[in-house]
Amino acid sequence: MKRLVILLAIVASACGGTETSPIVSLGVEDLLVAGEESYVRFCAACHGPDLRGTTLGPSFLSIIYEPNHHADFAFASAAKNGVPAHHWTFGDMPAIPGISDDEIAAVTAYVRSVQEAEGFDE
Ligand code: HEC
Repeated sequence: MKRLVILLAIVASACGGTETSPIVSLGVEDLLVAGEESYVRFCAACHGPDLRGTTLGPSFLSIIYEPNHHADFAFASAAKNGVPAHHWTFGDMPAIPGISDDEIAAVTAYVRSVQEAEGFDE
C-alpha cells in the first residue's frame, strides 16, 4: 500500500498534480499503469502475465470473466476473501494478503482494459 501511495504521489506530481488527493488526479493511463504493476505483483503468478492463465489459475480472457458474468465486485471479493473452486479444477484461490482497495480497483481497471483490447476466447 505504501508503495502504491508513493507511486501515485509521484505520478500526480509528474502530471503537475495539484492539492487534490493523488488517486483523484490519476488519469486513466496512470491508473492502468498502477493496475498492471499490482496485477504482476499479486495475480500474475496464477492468472498469467498475459492474463491467459497458468497451471495454477484460469485465463481472464475466458468468456466466463466477461463483465456481465463477473462484475467488478467479483474481483474485490476474490482478492479479499479468496474463491472456492467452482468453475475450474485448479483448486481454490486463496485470499490475497496485503492488497489494498485502491490496488484492487486499479487491477480491475487493468484487467478490463486488456479484456477490451484483446477480446474474449470462447
Ligand atoms: C494462488 C493462485 C491465484 C492467485 C495469486 C490469484 N488467483 Fe484469482 N483465481 C485462482 C483460481 C484457481 C481461480 C478459479 C476458481 C474457480 O472458479 O474454480 C481464480 C478465480 C478468480 C476470479 C473469479 C471469481 C469468481 O467469482 O468466480 C477472480 C475475479 C480472480 N480470481 C481475481 C484475482 C485477482 C484480482 C488476483 C490478484 C489480486 C488473483 N485472482 C490472484 C487463483 C489465483
